[in-house]
Amino acid sequence: MTKFVLIAALGAIASVSAAGPAAVNLGKAGTYAILSKSGISTVPTSAITGNIGVSPIASTAITGFSLKMDSTNRSATSTQVTGSVYAADYAAPTPEDLTVAIGDMEIAYTDAAGRTPPDHLNLGSGDLGGKTLGPGLYKFGSTVIIPTDCTISGLPTDTWIFQMSGDLTMAANKRVKLIGGALASNIVWQVAGYVEVGAGAHMEGILLVKTAAHFRTDSSLNGRILAQTAVTLQSSTVTQPYLGRFLAQTADILV
Ligand SMILES: *[C@@H]1O[C@H](CO)[C@@H](O)[C@H](O)[C@H]1NC(C)=O
Repeated sequence: MTKFVLIAALGAIASVSAAGPAAVNLGKAGTYAILSKSGISTVPTSAITGNIGVSPIASTAITGFSLKMDSTNRSATSTQVTGSVYAADYAAPTPEDLTVAIGDMEIAYTDAAGRTPPDHLNLGSGDLGGKTLGPGLYKFGSTVIIPTDCTISGLPTDTWIFQMSGDLTMAANKRVKLIGGALASNIVWQVAGYVEVGAGAHMEGILLVKTAAHFRTDSSLNGRILAQTAVTLQSSTVTQPYLGRFLAQTADILV
């Protein structure tokens, strides 16, 4: 009975208000706050909430974390990570698990990059400063810059995909802000170039990055960094988001 009421309520929310593209399935990559194919470095002290992993590169590509190996040899810990650290040279089943996660990360990137048709094409010529962005598919045939604060506005069931052929760069001390209940887990940035978040800047969402992600001094992210080359942190804070996507997916099924 209680279950019925809940399902009916979710169905009502979904049919009335869910807006934006279908959720991007991160698969096993969605269990990492940071995943990289070629390395993760930190200039201490960073603070990461969630697991981090590298593959196919080995643990020597995780630098600045002062890793402490677990007794199982399957994972390590660091005072900078609230979660576990994984690398391709750790004991089984870690290498196989990472191969699956990296594959899922690449599938998610390709999925996000291939979505059509855009609701917005080259909005603001790639300058999101000062903009309020509702749910939808945004496509940019360029680099995207965030030189002043920008706002992502929508409900917890709404979704956003930002596709770009260039880089994503945020100026120092600027913020991406969420309003109306918008969830970082429902926001995907598909970046064909690199991501650069300036010193003291704050970003929101899932970063699916073809190359690198650089987080400068005291920058922060509420989201995930899923990068196909290196991730560099400098006293950065990366916090994996609350699982809002579950609600969106449940709603999708019920519609
Ligand atoms: C973990 O690695 C160390 C060093 O190579 C080794 O001595 C130890 O036996 C390993 N532990 C397990 C559970 O495999």
